[in-house]
Amino acid sequence: MGNNKIIVAYSGGLDTSVMVKWLSNKYNAEIITVTGNLGQKSEIINIEDKAKSTGASKAYVVNLKKEFINDYVWKALKGGAIYEGEYPLATAIGRPLLAKLMVSIAQKENANIIAHGCTGKGNDQVRFEVGMKTLNPDIQIIAPLREWEFKSREDEILYAKENNIPISVNLKKPYSIDENIWGIATECGELENTAVAPPEDAYQITTNPEDAPNESEKIKITFIKGVPVALDGIKMAGHQLVGMLNDIGGKHGVGRFDIIENRIVGIKSREVYEAPAAQILHEAHLQLEKLTLDKDTFRYKQNVSNAYANLIYDGLWFSPLFDALTVFFDSIQERVSGEIMLELYKGNIKILSRESENSLYSQELATYTEKDTFNHKDAEGFINIISLPHQVITKHTVNKISVVD
Ligand code: ARG
Repeated sequence: MGNNKIIVAYSGGLDTSVMVKWLSNKYNAEIITVTGNLGQKSEIINIEDKAKSTGASKAYVVNLKKEFINDYVWKALKGGAIYEGEYPLATAIGRPLLAKLMVSIAQKENANIIAHGCTGKGNDQVRFEVGMKTLNPDIQIIAPLREWEFKSREDEILYAKENNIPISVNLKKPYSIDENIWGIATECGELENTAVAPPEDAYQITTNPEDAPNESEKIKITFIKGVPVALDGIKMAGHQLVGMLNDIGGKHGVGRFDIIENRIVGIKSREVYEAPAAQILHEAHLQLEKLTLDKDTFRYKQNVSNAYANLIYDGLWFSPLFDALTVFFDSIQERVSGEIMLELYKGNIKILSRESENSLYSQELATYTEKDTFNHKDAEGFINIISLPHQVITKHTVNKISVVD
């Protein structure tokens, strides 16, 4: 065992398995692996044994599901954080929490080197490293994938065989997959060709809408101050609610996204996402905001949501602007309580009803029946005043033109 101690962010996949051995060889270091459980179903089983049989002296597996939902996912939901209009940011939201976990375990272990398995052309290296350096500027980071000799998965598999590293690789599935409870991201393989529709095996948790049940399903979601607290009237913990919505939504083919996105490093990439719960909850939350927020707040919020999503995507979760916007969203969520009923059917989400004690909808004002209480005469003066500056511009322009003529 060397004098160096390296804390490795470990998923149990091919890259990080190979990394454990490679790092201990190259740096003659003691390796401690850390795995955060953010609700990913695959890979987490037997991960401790796997890490140790690959050469780790210690393997931490930390259940972060509750913290992930309560302190990360709900912030993104309340902030309406959807990147480039489509991607609900599952991977991006998970990285700062994992960065925090890595830094705290490094501290506990009295180590100051952290290694991760992100590639040199992706977003996650940025999110991880910006997060970790912000939390502890003295941390040193090693990113083996940016420097090692392996050029392909085959090279890594060969190295694994030579070094007796236990791996479970499905060569038929050529995808790179990242998963947590808020969504799954899948890239590589045929997905790299933008001219081709995603093969069906690129989807892991959603039914093809064509094969989804012929019967629709109605669900009711209750929110308190922007946070979903109950499904069909039954109160439950956030991670349970999200888990159930993934199952129900996935069954009905809801939550599939096939996207071209702009990466932080300037590349455009094509990725397939599955996030049934995220799509359902964002839609329900937005509908409740439309009912309960006043016009100016709602319009302003839309722009800020975009800024919030960009910060999250760009790895700036631990930043003053992010914190300030979080306070803004929390403040406007005070009113966002109520119930939204939705219907799921073959990949679609239909809104059936919205109700809230904070509803700003007034049927008396909206109705076209004799019950109408809106003063139609007020509209005339309102229109005159709102159009006044524009009337002046037009008159001014016309006068000028007539002078020249
Ligand atoms: N493009 C997504 C993001 O930047 C997901 C990245 C991880 N994807 C993956 N398939 N390994 O957040």
